Amino acid sequence: MDGTSVTRAVSRRRMLWVAGGGASALALGVAGCSEQDDADEDPTASASATMDGATPAPSTTPVSSRWPEPEEIRSRDGVLGVTLRMAPAMVPFEGGTRWALTVNGTTPGPTLRVRPGDVMKIRLENELGHSTNLHTHGLHVSPEGNADNPFIEIADGEAFDYEIPIPETQRPGLNWYHPHFHHHVAEQLYSGYYGAIIVEGEDDDDLGERVERLLTLNDTTIGQAEDAVMMVTAMMQREGREGDTLLVNGAREPGIEARAGTLEHWRIVNASASRFYRLALEGHEFAQIGSDAGRLAAPVMRDEIVMVPGERVEVLVRPSKTGTFALETLPISRGTMGMGMGGGGGIGTTATTRLATFEVTDGPGGEAKLPARTGTLESLRDRSPVKTRQLTFEMAGMSFVIDGKAFDGERIDQAVNFGTVEDWVITNTSPMDHPFHLHVWAFQVMEQSAGEPGVGWKDVVNVPAGGWVRIRIPFTGLAGKTVYHCHILDHEDLGMMAVVEVT
Ligand code: C2O
Ligand code: CU
Ligand code: CU
Repeated sequence: MDGTSVTRAVSRRRMLWVAGGGASALALGVAGCSEQDDADEDPTASASATMDGATPAPSTTPVSSRWPEPEEIRSRDGVLGVTLRMAPAMVPFEGGTRWALTVNGTTPGPTLRVRPGDVMKIRLENELGHSTNLHTHGLHVSPEGNADNPFIEIADGEAFDYEIPIPETQRPGLNWYHPHFHHHVAEQLYSGYYGAIIVEGEDDDDLGERVERLLTLNDTTIGQAEDAVMMVTAMMQREGREGDTLLVNGAREPGIEARAGTLEHWRIVNASASRFYRLALEGHEFAQIGSDAGRLAAPVMRDEIVMVPGERVEVLVRPSKTGTFALETLPISRGTMGMGMGGGGGIGTTATTRLATFEVTDGPGGEAKLPARTGTLESLRDRSPVKTRQLTFEMAGMSFVIDGKAFDGERIDQAVNFGTVEDWVITNTSPMDHPFHLHVWAFQVMEQSAGEPGVGWKDVVNVPAGGWVRIRIPFTGLAGKTVYHCHILDHEDLGMMAVVEVT
């Protein structure tokens, strides 16, 4: 295949965090440091992946000395070849264990690191005990055949060979993988089946020297068996299940060790089934440099960042003083069930919860400089849509529907002409928020009922209770049939999903 060979940027100037190697694992590297990851590139090595990268620290070690960065698997010569084995397992947790669905023995699964033009050859071995499949959320890749096809079913005990070519036009940033087998998405993600996909690109060169970290935010139930973790009441499903324990890369309140005067680059994904986060870092501002599906042109300073399920952000953090600071999620509401549907009680959280501890020790000091330019961002403001569609997210009793209909994979709900730009106005008539997500084609938010939309490429946007958003979507690059849905995955499983076909 022609598109699979890429010329790699030779001058990758950066500091690289090497996961799982203890406190001294901070490799201050230039160029050659990537060599240290080479062991991870061997697809056969991944099957016997060590648990090191993704497991929480044993209780005998201070949690802070071991940031639980998942293992990384990189593409080599344009190909990322890997076997991902999905299976339940007891994973280490705070000196004991917990039951989880794992990817090659860990949760989250390994981080896949690719470049535009690469092809991902993923063999999925399903030993979950249930049917499943794989979705590469955020990648601008084909939704057909054995690529990012959400209609595939891989039965328990079976294996499937995905082949997913990533176009040269894929923007750099953070994407992620999770299951997408209808009616079972929420429970499988909640139980631990998720992992990150990092796309590197030319824009990375502008960021300069920095420590890179992945933060996957997930909430779950800590339990010793499948039933204890997966079991859910009809009420919890309607609200969207939220777990009692908040995990960052599978660990509770891990420590991030940083040095004053250095630049930290965090890629954050909300990999929770339903929970919304409102992130704040004590004593620090976030410099946001990326949204779901691409980089911003320049950093945008933020005290807080709201993340609904499926959303990603990339931020730079500049520790300048030594000390210990909490990374927290602040109270956030996501509506109510409405009257006659179990009461008018609020959904969301009224508590502040610590997600991680930011431990800043002595370093070069001062405040690291922010890059002036962080990427290329073409605005869609001046493009004119050929068509405007109206979509409505509704709840009535037990039914969660879009335009009055529950999901049916055989029905085409939106037929779109390939190559055109459309506006979709999504209205939410229900008393609960619903985060809208579209596969394959990223969009920009033009207008919304609640305040000014931010800038940047998105593939998830929250549609607040009783509110609306207007998004602009270029249906370019790839054709095919796929889905759009509420990313509160219980709602998706209950039917709040529909089919778009681009031809
Ligand atoms: Cu993360 Cu269909 O989505
Ligand atoms: Cu998706
Ligand atoms: Cu929803």
